[in-house]
Amino acid sequence: MSLMGFLDRYADVSAIDTAIEPARRAVQGLPSGLKDVLHGTWLGHPLHPVLVQVPVGTWVSAGLLDAVPRLRPAATLLIGTGVAAAVPAAMSGAADWSEQGAGVRRLGAVHAVLNTAALGLYVGSLVARSKGRGTLGRVLAYSGLGVAGGAAAIGGHMSYAQSSGASHAATAVRALSSDWIDLGPLDDLPEGRPTMRTGKGGSMAVPLAVVRRGARVDVFVGACSHLSGPLDEGVVETVRGSECLVCPWHGSAFDLDNGEPRRGPAANPQEKLEARMEAGRVMARVPSRHR
Ligand code: FES
Repeated sequence: MSLMGFLDRYADVSAIDTAIEPARRAVQGLPSGLKDVLHGTWLGHPLHPVLVQVPVGTWVSAGLLDAVPRLRPAATLLIGTGVAAAVPAAMSGAADWSEQGAGVRRLGAVHAVLNTAALGLYVGSLVARSKGRGTLGRVLAYSGLGVAGGAAAIGGHMSYAQSSGASHAATAVRALSSDWIDLGPLDDLPEGRPTMRTGKGGSMAVPLAVVRRGARVDVFVGACSHLSGPLDEGVVETVRGSECLVCPWHGSAFDLDNGEPRRGPAANPQEKLEARMEAGRVMARVPSRHR
């Protein structure tokens, strides 16, 4: 088993689910506008990895400054900054976590417990420093750094090995051929609702979600950027002033004009293909960044 293989073993343990489900339901009960802010839907990028830069950066820097006696007051300032920044970082992580699959949620619960413990150690460090107990303050801070490092390793495994936060649509689009794909006659497409067409992708077929609005056709990768939900089974709705393709799994809404998310939990845009008409037939191909 690889060094991190035990995390995947743990992610298969369903016994933890009943313990974490109440927390998940509580987070899911937050107002949708607040959740979209926390997801990073407005940014077009997950917000959590952006926010965690502050506590990670300040706490690592504080660890270095604590090693130099005359720089320890600056270390205290950095620790305080990291403690304050950890709160919104945790909130954004919780919002994303609540809409992930079972394995990610199980690892995410451990990630959250360790980060909470690290936060407690750093708060304890600040209290100790304020009372003039510098040695204890440094011991608590270095302990917090170690625990936070373990939590970060788990977070990295969730992102890279379990694809939480990554765009699942970007993965799918890379499987498509870079040639123009014939999606059939325009007249065969229903008006105003998504339909599945299949794109050529080397040895595999790639589902596409196609929406016709009059003479206009918008073609998207069929796998939702959030967790690969089937967008061809979704609906077209106006969301926050934009006509959107709405995913049937968790309700993410993507602007038909450009694929930008208008409602989460998706934070990444949906991959949209170039489209043109040729003798009454719809042709599509992947954007040049993927060719
Ligand atoms: S898979 Fe979650 S919103 Fe589409």
